[in-house]
Amino acid sequence: MVSLGGQRILLGVTGGIAAYKAAALVRELKKAGADVQVVMTDAARAFVTPLTFQALSGRPVRHALLDPAEESGLDHIGLARWAELVLIAPATADFLARLAAGLAGDLLSTLCLATTAPIAVAPAMNHRMWEAAATRANVEVLRGRGVQVLGPAEGDQACGESGAGRMLEPEALAAWVTDRQAPRPLAGRTVLVTAGPTREPLDPVRYLSNRSSGKMGYAVAAAAARAGARVVLVSGPVGLAAPEGVEQVSVETAEEMLRAVQRHAGGADVFVAAAAVADYRPREPSPRKVKRSAALLNLALEPTPDVLGWVAGLPRRPFLVGFAAETEDLETNARRKLERKGLDLVAANRVGVPGTGFDADENELDVYWEGGSRRLARAPKTVLGRELVALIGERLGAQGRA
Ligand code: PMT
Repeated sequence: MVSLGGQRILLGVTGGIAAYKAAALVRELKKAGADVQVVMTDAARAFVTPLTFQALSGRPVRHALLDPAEESGLDHIGLARWAELVLIAPATADFLARLAAGLAGDLLSTLCLATTAPIAVAPAMNHRMWEAAATRANVEVLRGRGVQVLGPAEGDQACGESGAGRMLEPEALAAWVTDRQAPRPLAGRTVLVTAGPTREPLDPVRYLSNRSSGKMGYAVAAAAARAGARVVLVSGPVGLAAPEGVEQVSVETAEEMLRAVQRHAGGADVFVAAAAVADYRPREPSPRKVKRSAALLNLALEPTPDVLGWVAGLPRRPFLVGFAAETEDLETNARRKLERKGLDLVAANRVGVPGTGFDADENELDVYWEGGSRRLARAPKTVLGRELVALIGERLGAQGRA
């Protein structure tokens, strides 16, 4: 884990049942080396005693805005200046509304107005409150001001209902804080990623497609964003939500994928082609539903445009990463693609075996480049996405493009 090296974190605790989890969060942050100052709202004190936080943080808990005893030490403006990060967990619907409105009626909201430190909130509330139009509008206002909104997660709630509104677990919140300190090898870069399958229509209700779930490409996009890049993700139809901080463009056919890539390739420093683009499409899709009959039906197929090939042909092409989905002769076939398409890296995966490749949570990649290779051993695609992005950073450096 990255050490927080004494980073000064002001942890705001507001009044929700998830306040008890904030105690574990203090412990996680302290374990990672942070200096934690807890500030509680009145309502939070009804859920957890300040003594708990004092014992865990090693600092007296602050709560009053106008208490002469508290103000005589580090006053509220001093506290706002002290913080290097303000993290509010849990953040209730009421507190988000006060933050969005810029109210300063208690110590925590005043600190948020007075600080220049980044602010992050971990909402926790009943799912209907989270979905309410007022909360949605408040969250959009906060996001627009650069407040980082972490979660909420979906699941069972204290009220007995189920939905989106659970505070993220303390470990996940602490991981977000430590990730901010992690090296960002792609800062300042733009990364364009394709992911998922394409659908090539036969008629208005049928199409040719494949089993790609998009998980591999989405993992690369998420990892590139975490590595500091601006990421544009051109995605075929999949059931995944866009990763945090990634600009998603949804497409259906290979032709649409090509057009979306053409719009964004100009500004890209890196292009990663993880999509399983259909190689062929029906030459003449029928405008009407093809009727069933006893006769044999022949489909005439024509090749789709080669999206990766088009980017490779650009006069000022980005750093190119292709994928190779192979059932045999992995290295020979992958190296052939590397050379034929003029790629900088090719990530080969074996497909057609259960547990990895298409529509699996895990994968295994053999990455080749001119004069080198690296095996990325079997792991969840999220982990492989991070490893591949780290390798892209290394190879960019090796080519003198760092
Ligand atoms: O989506 P998942 O379920 O997570 O599965 C991940 C994956 C197996 C789809 C992924 O890891 C993968 O291998 N993607 C590439 C699949 C593929 O189409 O491979 P290919 O060997 O046929 O194509 C070679 C390269 O050319 C690929 O980078 C592909 O994106 C690109 N290509 C291919 C055809 C085409 N018309 N345009 C392209 O850009």
